[in-house]
Amino acid sequence: MRVLVVGSGGREHALAWKISRSRLVRELFAAPGNPGIAEVATLVALEATDVEGLAHWSRENQIDLVVIGPEAPLVAGLADRIAREGIPVFGPSAAAAEIEGSKAFAKEIMEAAGIPTAGHGTFTALEPALAFARARAGRVVVKADGLAAGKGVVVCDELPEAEEALRAMLVQKVHGGAGARVVVEDRLEGPEASCIAFTDGERVRMLAAAQDHKRIFDGDRGPNTGGMGAFSPTPTVTPEVAEMVERDVLLPAVRELARRGRPFRGALYAGLMLTPDGPRVLEFNARLGDPETQPILLRMTSDVVPALLGAAEGDLSDVTLEFDRRAAVGVVLAAEHYPAKPTAGDPIDGLAGPFEEGVQVFHAGTARARDGRIVTAGGRVLTVCALGDGLDDAARRAYDAAARIRFRGMQLRRDIGKRA
Ligand code: AMP
Ligand code: GLY
Repeated sequence: MRVLVVGSGGREHALAWKISRSRLVRELFAAPGNPGIAEVATLVALEATDVEGLAHWSRENQIDLVVIGPEAPLVAGLADRIAREGIPVFGPSAAAAEIEGSKAFAKEIMEAAGIPTAGHGTFTALEPALAFARARAGRVVVKADGLAAGKGVVVCDELPEAEEALRAMLVQKVHGGAGARVVVEDRLEGPEASCIAFTDGERVRMLAAAQDHKRIFDGDRGPNTGGMGAFSPTPTVTPEVAEMVERDVLLPAVRELARRGRPFRGALYAGLMLTPDGPRVLEFNARLGDPETQPILLRMTSDVVPALLGAAEGDLSDVTLEFDRRAAVGVVLAAEHYPAKPTAGDPIDGLAGPFEEGVQVFHAGTARARDGRIVTAGGRVLTVCALGDGLDDAARRAYDAAARIRFRGMQLRRDIGKRA
């Protein structure tokens, strides 16, 4: 097979690495990819959101499967456009991806399907939104309806905070159209977990559960980021919880989308809070998580390609997914001043290792400079992952490997995988 991976982050490097190990794959391409992905795939100089360009290129190059990593091209309709070329595509249509693209739509699906989530209201006007927040003494979470590059969620303790967030989104329009409508919801408490499944529009196949660390500093302090690290498995998602999430969250969402004529083919991601009253959905994503994918795919022992193709073609009935019993931890190495204004262009040393067996270094924000050196080129630069006998051992191995890598201003958390 000839496979194209779309995207350029750590998630896409992990996907490309795993796909490249499949006996079914003869040639692997990535658009636009990154220098790490270039070690396992041929790079194609097209942006992930170049819908027409990618559709033409895939047809001209007789691609048998397109795997779309990030949400932006999904919401922009890349999967629809590729499907029109008659090429199987892993990743939902724009209509199905709305479950991530609009938080109000996600709530509508959850309500219709009886999926447990936080109590909430959807607003376009300030006064009724304020009244909702007031009735909860400001202990609410304010969410921009649309995609806001991970900055559209404000967790509030008190009313003035909620009022400020609501004014910023609804009046000052800091997120433009994405925040012209907001979801305000009850603030819940509990550990979080990421449960992701491949789905063909009807059946679901759960991946190993994971947990990520969203705040920039140790102990979950400081601003939110795209994710500073992740680990799998997570002890909070017992086999019983996983079964409950499949039965009460993922399958009902897949069925409700199909019922509305929006079958979801790809990876459906439920971001959960495990409250004393049971799991509650905080968000759905229409794609694999980043950085969760890195440790999850490191643990996957089955060939991923039949699963990607099965989801793309609408038939996962013959697919089972197996995971290594060992744990995996992924530590993100981020650039100086991330997440506000990451610096770029700093040379990275130590990428060649040597690393212990079971260690994988996935690239995200890296580039090859003119002199051939790999330099930083984005906020999250690398995810250093390792397998180990249990989370402590996996974390130790990941941190040993991370200690070999250096660049100016490198930031990393010291407690990834240790929360459990
Ligand atoms: P989201 O993008 O919706 O997952 O929100 C980002 C982060 O905000 C989550 O990972 C949680 O830490 C937090 N969050 C979202 N919704 C809630 C909620 N209802 N209660 C408490 N924290 C929340
Ligand atoms: N790590 C969270 C996400 O991918 O949305």
